[in-house]
Amino acid sequence: MTRVNIAGLSEHVGAGVELQGWLYNKRASKKLQFLEIRDGSGIVQAVVSKDDAPEAFESASRLSQECSLRVSGVVARHPKHAGVFELAVTALTELSAASDYPISPKDHGTDFLMDHRHLWIRSRRQHAILRVRHAIIRAIRDFFDGRDFTLVDAPIFTPNACEGTSTLFETDFHGQPAFLTQSGQLYMEAAAAAFGKAYCFGPTFRAEKSKTRRHLAEFWMVEPEVAFMELAEDMQLAEEFLSEVVQRVVRERSDELERLERDVSLLKKVEAPFPRISYSDAIALLKDNGKDAKVGDDFGAEDETIISSAFDRPVIVHRYPAELKAFYMKRDPVDARLSLCMDVLAPEGYGEVIGGGQREDDLAALEAALTHHQLPKEAFSWYLDLRRYGSFPHAGFGLGVERLVAWICGLPHVRETIPFPRMLTRLTP
Ligand code: 4AD
Ligand code: MG
Repeated sequence: MTRVNIAGLSEHVGAGVELQGWLYNKRASKKLQFLEIRDGSGIVQAVVSKDDAPEAFESASRLSQECSLRVSGVVARHPKHAGVFELAVTALTELSAASDYPISPKDHGTDFLMDHRHLWIRSRRQHAILRVRHAIIRAIRDFFDGRDFTLVDAPIFTPNACEGTSTLFETDFHGQPAFLTQSGQLYMEAAAAAFGKAYCFGPTFRAEKSKTRRHLAEFWMVEPEVAFMELAEDMQLAEEFLSEVVQRVVRERSDELERLERDVSLLKKVEAPFPRISYSDAIALLKDNGKDAKVGDDFGAEDETIISSAFDRPVIVHRYPAELKAFYMKRDPVDARLSLCMDVLAPEGYGEVIGGGQREDDLAALEAALTHHQLPKEAFSWYLDLRRYGSFPHAGFGLGVERLVAWICGLPHVRETIPFPRMLTRLTP
């Protein structure tokens, strides 16, 4: 008997096969039992007939949700649904029982489900989300690999802050204080000088005290950095990158997005070029919409929603006041109060998915910025070397994978976008 997986059943119509998996759900009539079996690759309905397979029928009646099992049967096309297959069971063995599985098909509260995340990821919806996440990550890597970027991994233990000292997780590194990385950017700047085009992709950490639907304590970020690239090209790279990734995932994960009831017509509009507006245009737009906004304000989630609602695709907001941004941003030569930075805001209220810009490449200006931000110069000595030895204009950005997953899947909260979320109030499972 051929051992198959559920995703491959279409190639075995009419043949006898064996598969192994878990019982997802079950319903029964007097003469028939309908088992929904999942094996990770898909879910199939297995029909057990009392008349045709009395022993299997008897075993099936004792199975409970999420027991592991092995079944043999003959593959048939579903009588009504094209592309769907069924299994007419001939034999069935329970491999390991699962009594009182905590997640029943009824509704559970979010905290309960989050506490059982290690089991919850077996369910259809979570499975679909994590499959979309995988496709996003693959598309991200292919985009940069296809453009000859070199992958350069950044460290996770770091001696200094990148994105401000207020969100650092401190840890003990052999008796010396160290921080979990907030961003690999500073290391990618070193990599850009070595490879021209580089990117890193890994977990990053922020001790954000805010409990919002967009913030995780641990999230994955992809960060490209390019030598001799300035802000205008950085924006172009970001829009080409984002539109290619979104379009590819919409194509490759149409089944999962349908299961998530995502309206993909909105995602299909995500095509470069994206509209670009300056920070001051964005302030004016907020005022036009009745918000009490003034230059110098940072944008909250509601502001970002108002700004992005004015467009049918992501919008790039550039040149924020330098006071709102990190120490490494290059000042705008046209107006030194502004940074040569940009954020990409996703539509439908998803807000900032990308942040980046051009880096300060002048040694004296960067030293002054460190002093202004009260950052210790010694810890950044290696970073200043990049300006001491052949400084060069360069730019890049960071995309937070979970916010992209939330947007593409149409989820209200980032907690379901990562297999095991770490949030202000969650460290388990
Ligand atoms: O805007 P951020 O803080 O930018 C940086 O870290 C730069 N050093 C990146 C660079 O230029 N190489 O973060 C970048 C992105 C945000 O746009 C958002 O998508 C995501 O990272 N992000 C978070 N995602 C989930 N939870 C959080 N707490 C996040 N903080 C940032
Ligand atoms: Mg940002």
